[in-house]
Amino acid sequence: MVNVLFVCLGNICRSPMAEAVFRKKVKEAGLEDKVKTDSAGTGDWHVGKTPHSGTRSLLQSKGIDYSNIFARQVTKEDLVNSDYVIAMDDNNVAALKDHGVEEERTHIAKLLDFIPQQEVTNVPDPYFTGNFDEVYDLVHESCERLLLYIREKEDL
Ligand code: 4NP
Repeated sequence: MVNVLFVCLGNICRSPMAEAVFRKKVKEAGLEDKVKTDSAGTGDWHVGKTPHSGTRSLLQSKGIDYSNIFARQVTKEDLVNSDYVIAMDDNNVAALKDHGVEEERTHIAKLLDFIPQQEVTNVPDPYFTGNFDEVYDLVHESCERLLLYIREKEDL
């Protein structure tokens, strides 16, 4: 099993959106038994909550299931057990390092690293910008490319 963990700050806007989008792509590729998708936040303010209403309505409008996604805080075990830790921005990467990410064992990257020649390198936080459409466009394209990357790396 390949474990993919998306990480943002609150785990209510960006990383649950990426989780829902990516797991749909995994399902469509028939790889549900091979790739496990999860998400977590570096902060603990929203633990137990469903995704933000902006993320929910966007996913709903695209017909993407987000059931069973509830906010939680990233743990050290997550970082050891995940094959791919995919952060939304530089702040998330810095916070993960503070959480003790084991860099030799865990492939840590930023989501937008997977879009070549991408000028924006951090997924803007819609909790502050209110722009969930922009986030969806970035997440959608990068998740497509991330899955191709993982399939090639893992021979799936
Ligand atoms: P997210 O957005 O990291 O994309 O889930 C945020 C959600 C909540 C907060 C910040 C960012 N907050 O400060 O509560």
